[in-house]
This record gives sequence, structure tokens and C-alpha cells, in this order.
Amino acid sequence: MSDKRPLRSAAWFGSTDKNGFMYRSWMKNQGIPDHEFQGKPIIGICNTWSELTPCNAHFRKLAEHVKKGVLEAGGFPVEFPVFSNGESNLRPTAMLTRNLASMDVEEAIRGNPVDAVVLLTGCDKTTPALLMGAASCDVPAIVVTGGPMLNGKHKGRDIGAGTVVWQMHEAYKAGQISLDEFLSAEAGMSRSAGTCNTMGTASTMACMAEALGTSLPHNAAIPAVDARRYVLAHLSGMRIVEMVGEDLRLSKILTREAFENAIRVNAAIGGSTNAVIHLKAIAGRIGVSLELDDWTRVGRGMPTLVDLQPSGRFLMEEFYYAGGLPAVIRRMDEGGLLPNPGALTVNGKSLGANCAQAPIYGEDEVIRRLDNPLREDGGICVLRGNLAPKGAVLKPSAATPALMQHRGRAVVFENFDDYKARIADPALDVDETCVLVLKNAGPKGYPGMAEVGNMGLPPKVLAKGITDMVRISDARMSGTAYGTVVLHVAPEAAAGGPLAAVRNGDLIELDCAGGRLHLDVSAEELAARLADLAPPAPLAWDGGYRRLYIDHVLQADEGCDFDFLVGCRGAEVPRHSH
Ligand code: FES
Ligand code: MG
Repeated sequence: MSDKRPLRSAAWFGSTDKNGFMYRSWMKNQGIPDHEFQGKPIIGICNTWSELTPCNAHFRKLAEHVKKGVLEAGGFPVEFPVFSNGESNLRPTAMLTRNLASMDVEEAIRGNPVDAVVLLTGCDKTTPALLMGAASCDVPAIVVTGGPMLNGKHKGRDIGAGTVVWQMHEAYKAGQISLDEFLSAEAGMSRSAGTCNTMGTASTMACMAEALGTSLPHNAAIPAVDARRYVLAHLSGMRIVEMVGEDLRLSKILTREAFENAIRVNAAIGGSTNAVIHLKAIAGRIGVSLELDDWTRVGRGMPTLVDLQPSGRFLMEEFYYAGGLPAVIRRMDEGGLLPNPGALTVNGKSLGANCAQAPIYGEDEVIRRLDNPLREDGGICVLRGNLAPKGAVLKPSAATPALMQHRGRAVVFENFDDYKARIADPALDVDETCVLVLKNAGPKGYPGMAEVGNMGLPPKVLAKGITDMVRISDARMSGTAYGTVVLHVAPEAAAGGPLAAVRNGDLIELDCAGGRLHLDVSAEELAARLADLAPPAPLAWDGGYRRLYIDHVLQADEGCDFDFLVGCRGAEVPRHSH
């Protein structure tokens, strides 16, 4: 050990009194010999394994490889489960339970004899939830993600998880493919262990964890089933033991500089809009101030270099073979576009140093050159105006350039059920110049801010061969989705935001270049409409965790954390239980 700080775990196992007896004795029922308790760093392996989270279903094997590394470095690994937030199965949305999972992680770390943690994350919400919980404890932590699935295969072509569902469903609704053909893509889309292989939220958050410096280089892109994923898990297990000795806590990694790097990297990879919410929530837990406008200040002007679906062509497998995230960061740094190359990472070196020699394979294909980007201005477009006083976002790389400046007539859906009931109605008064507006799909309104913002287009518009329309909501959208979609409108309709006052036929103006989202009604009219609104209808299943959620969730611009969870509470050892 390079410093003499007593191990946290010594407060459990380091005494010969009654308490020390009890803590050790019960642990020994697992066959642990006495010498293991004599001052080895105890490494918690925080596992989100679950058969209901298919993206993380291979995590028991991943944990075994972390353990090998911990043991090799002289640590004592202890694996523990936390709430597993599976995106594909959880209803009404895994976002509802992201904060619940973070509370689980925080309390499990603080209440147990662990000196540091390895965070096994994969499916979308598992990465932010575990980083949020660990950040609130500020212990040494290292992220190991489960890695993306191999490329999907269907009828001789590559298909991307999530993205192909949106594409094929629209084609089916437009009458271009049969139901049988649509359903036949299921098995080929998800044919190996791992997370969505597009640059969806899981891949984005894995890249964010790497860009923030919380994982070893290459963690984001190595495919789930590639043996090198297990080597990385092993090396992470070895490294976390050293980090205990160096007291390399999350607060030394998760600095303002690290978040600025992450915002720029998100632009370079064409990352998910969900990163805006998750990075804010993580920053809030470690005490770093990060505002929505930082996405404009820091992110603007960064081209998208990574040609991955949904913005581009390829999938995570090709991204890894092309050099993965270190190659992107190297290109950014060489072009002077990495704001803080000196930011510290978990291996004790800076982000810039880690990536300076990173090989790039294929000069200008999967990872584009700076002078030939996929999109000139990647990043996240932050919008404000009388329709979104606290902001809204749009992902330019997933949008149609011609629609990014648009004025159109609102076609309003009061909630998602209303949308589903009427969108296919041939009598719906809508054409491609209209703006689809969805209310009550935000944090409190849905509740949980579901990924329903990329509303499918009306079939009669699709039948004309139209593939995009301006859509506006207080919802999120899947990182695998695309379109000219304005999301995260804050405050949301259910919290009394102006979105609640939009009526059919109102004119709405979207101006991405000017950062403006404007409802063309007077301030007096808007105020009168808002004063007239009926209070939201009570939920059918009020009570329990959902009550806590609705009462305490913050708006999208604040990261949708709970008001009482923001902040770092440290990992001071609690009083004895007996
Ligand atoms: Fe789990 Fe996409 S559903 S990563
Ligand atoms: Mg997703």
C-alpha cells in the first residue's frame, strides 16, 4: 500500500471483539480462510446480472474474470447483486427505476465491508445507475461493461439492434414488407450476448464511462463475446486493487474536465440524447456543476466522426475493429478538439496519454477523418423558447437537415394512449408539414419519461414515402432511434410546462441553428391557457415506489434524479448493527 490509510473494511474485520467475530464468522460459512481477513483490500463486484436483463445475462462469467484479476493482485473479491434495470422488458420504462437502482448501489456500498468496487454495467440504465450510486459514496470504482452484441444478421445483411425495429416497423406500416418478414428478423437481430450493437444508449454510456476516465481504454467497444472482453475484466480486477492503495476515488476522476471531455466525445460518436440526462445526474452525485447549456458551449462545433447506426452505417463490432474509442479520442486530440487531455483516468494516466498511440484501422471509414466527418456539427442541439423555458434537446446527426428549420401546424396528442388511438386514423387531420406534439410523457407524466418521443409517423404520411416529420414531446427517445425529434421539453406538461397548453392548429417554430423552440401564441394567451388547465388525472396505480418517484423526480434539465439524492454523501462507515 502506498499510503497508510486504514482500509474501510478493517472497521468490520479488523477487530477481535464481539463485532469482529460476528462479521468474520458468518462470512466464513462460504469457505473463506482466516488469512483472507487480515488486511487484504476487499473489492465489491457490483453485478447487474439478470435473466430479465438479456443484455447483462452473461455477467456471471464476466464477474468470474474480474475475480481472477482481483485475486491475482492480492485483493479479496466479493460479488453482490443490485437491481438490474433491463431496458427491453421493464415496463412502463427502465428509466422509472434508474434512481431506485442507484439507491440500491449507494446503500449496498456504504453499508458493506468494501474498500472499492468494480461496476458491471451494460444495458442502458445500468451504467448511469451504478455510477450515480458509487459517486454518492466516492469510493475507488472502475466500470466494466458487458460489451455489445455481434452484428445482427438478416437475409444476408447486417442489421442493428433497435434501429432495425424502427425501420422495419415503418416499412411494414407503409405496406412495403409483410408481417412474416418483419417478425423473421427477431432472432437474427439479437444473436449473441451483449448490449445493443448500434450507437444506442448502452453503447453511448459505455463510451461515456470510458471518456469520463472511469474504465480502462477499449472498455466501450470490445464485443461481449470477444475473449478480449474477459481479459479487460481481468485487468480491471487487478487495477482496482492498486486503486485502493492509491486512494484513487471517483471524485479524482469525475471532475468538471472529465464531463467536458465526455460531452465532446458524445458529439464525436453521434451518441444518444439520453447521455444528456445521465451525465447531469452523475455529475450531480459527485458535486460537479453541469448545465444543459454546457452541451452547447462545450459540444458545439464538434463533428461526428463515428459512422455508426442510427446516425450512420456501421455497428459496434466494426467500431472495435477500427480502433474503438481510443482511436476517436486520439483523432480529437490531434485536431485540438479534446478539451481536457490531461484529465485523469482509472489507470492513473491521463485520457490524452492513454489514447495518444491508439491505432486507427481503415483510414476514413468507420472512424472518419476530421476533414470528412459524418456530420459537421454533431453534438446535441439545445433548444429554448416559450415552449421550453428550461430547455429541450434534438440530435442533429439523427435528424433531417431540411426539417431542422421548420414552421408547422401542431397535431396534438394529450398522452401516449391518445397518440396510439388516433395516429393511424385515416381521418386524422395531418400531413408531413405538421408538427406532432405529445404531452404527458415526461418524468412525472408517464411516469418515468419513456422512450416514446420518436412517435411513428401516420400511415397515410408514410404511404407517400415520407420518412420524417418534426416531433416534439417531454419524452425521451431510444438511442437507437432517429428523426427530427425534439425531446426532453422542460418543464414537462404534467409539471405545468407550456407544452400542456399547445392546441391543435397552433403554429410551432423549430430553429435548430438559433436554438429556438417557439409556440406562436401571445404570452397573455399562453398564461390564460395554462391557468385554465385541469389538474392531471390521478394515476390508476398510485402508491409505492411510483409515488416516491413522482413526488421527488427532478425535470429533464436536472437529470431526472430525485431531489434528495443529489450530492455526494461519502462512504463513512456506519455504526454497528449489533
Ligand atoms: Fe439492453 Fe439495448 S436493450 S442495451
Ligand atoms: Mg435503449
